[in-house]
Amino acid sequence: MAETAARIDLCSTDEVTSGNVRKVEAGGLTLAVYNVDGEYFVTDDLCTHGPGSLSDGYLDGHVIECDFHNGAFDIRTGEIVSPPCMVPLKTYKAVIEGGRVTIET
Ligand code: FES
Repeated sequence: MAETAARIDLCSTDEVTSGNVRKVEAGGLTLAVYNVDGEYFVTDDLCTHGPGSLSDGYLDGHVIECDFHNGAFDIRTGEIVSPPCMVPLKTYKAVIEGGRVTIET
């Protein structure tokens, strides 16, 4: 039998306004939920470079800049946009259901 993906409920879509990022702890994960013009994206909250929390960073379009050493990632793919980050960021597929932001793991 095929394994079913687990759905994790993160927050209401209203809780992350356009152009903003919010930290959410759910399912044993600490995540950053982003809203870019009504489209939602989810990544790990912890910067891959160090102790920076990306939800404390600066969101510019699809790029999140860590406020610790100013490294940056593309939140759509997790790709590094600016050093000193060397390791891509983990991203999750956001699924909107009934006004809630969820992810499948
Ligand atoms: S901890 Fe994020 S750039 Fe260093």
